[in-house]
Amino acid sequence: MKLVTPRRLLLSAALALGGLAALPALAQTPVVIKFSHVVAPDTPKGKGAQRLKELVEERSKGRIKVEVYPNSQLYKDKEELEALQLGSVQMLAPSLAKFGPLGVKEYEVFDLPFLFKDEASFRNTTDTLGKDLFTKLESKGIKGLAYWDNGFHIMSANKPLHKVADFKGLKMRIQSSKVLDAQMRALGAIPQVMAFSELYQALQSGVVDGTEGVASNFYTQKIYEVQKHITLSNHGHLAYALIINKKFYDGLPADLRAVLDSAVKDATTYANAIAQTENATALEKIKASGKSTVYTPSAAEANEWKQALMPVHRDMTSRVGKATVDAAYKAAGFVAPK
Ligand code: LMR
Repeated sequence: MKLVTPRRLLLSAALALGGLAALPALAQTPVVIKFSHVVAPDTPKGKGAQRLKELVEERSKGRIKVEVYPNSQLYKDKEELEALQLGSVQMLAPSLAKFGPLGVKEYEVFDLPFLFKDEASFRNTTDTLGKDLFTKLESKGIKGLAYWDNGFHIMSANKPLHKVADFKGLKMRIQSSKVLDAQMRALGAIPQVMAFSELYQALQSGVVDGTEGVASNFYTQKIYEVQKHITLSNHGHLAYALIINKKFYDGLPADLRAVLDSAVKDATTYANAIAQTENATALEKIKASGKSTVYTPSAAEANEWKQALMPVHRDMTSRVGKATVDAAYKAAGFVAPK
């Protein structure tokens, strides 16, 4: 039986009222959009949010004001989704690996190891399957606006991670996705779900031994200062969904909604265009710091990781749904390694 906690009850009641907390903003001039996120301003997502703010404010001629709150200043990973549903904030761009708690497990398909071979393969998947998945958010009071790409995951610890055996017994921080949990277990590690804002401290104090992530986050959160070894494994992919409180969006006057849509389109093009270079630059800065060794796996090592991780696809199909996995394989052009 599903447990109904008081918090959940409150959330359901607020949702039933149609996210009324979102509405008073519409009566004010200007309309205020609070955009909360968990990363630093100087990252692809941080810069995308800032560009969105500039475009919306300029094109609405000041009728919409966008307030960007970076670095989990307002809410952590899980809390921000609840805040969006309640209308305490209007916009977010969480990683797709954090949608499980909303009950949209299909999003975890994006975490299947080695699913995407390149950015084009990822983009094709968001353009097709991603669009369908947006419809599943609507009953949660959320409207999906766009997908923002942030490149491939790298892996870190205080010991070299070359072979699968190197992971044995390591406590590895993950986002809340069950696919990521299965991935770490398949490598022999012990996964630990943790909010992004707690990661640096947890690595520094040894609560966890390692993590996966992208170079722009490793650099801006100073992860490389508390992790001696980084492996460029590219085993996973980090992407965000730009989402908005649905009642708020639907309640906007048509002309302001059009302004928002056009700003979203252009900010998305911008965020997607800078991600690769931002991550490459961050990696160069990490290398230049001399604090962390950056290792590129050999073909044989990469193949060993792939072999160890493929069972995760099979084991997670029942959770994510076969139709979703099939659609992702088709869109991504996935071919299982021999
Ligand atoms: C993480 O929690 O590692 C990422 O989702 C953070 C982010 O938003 O880039």
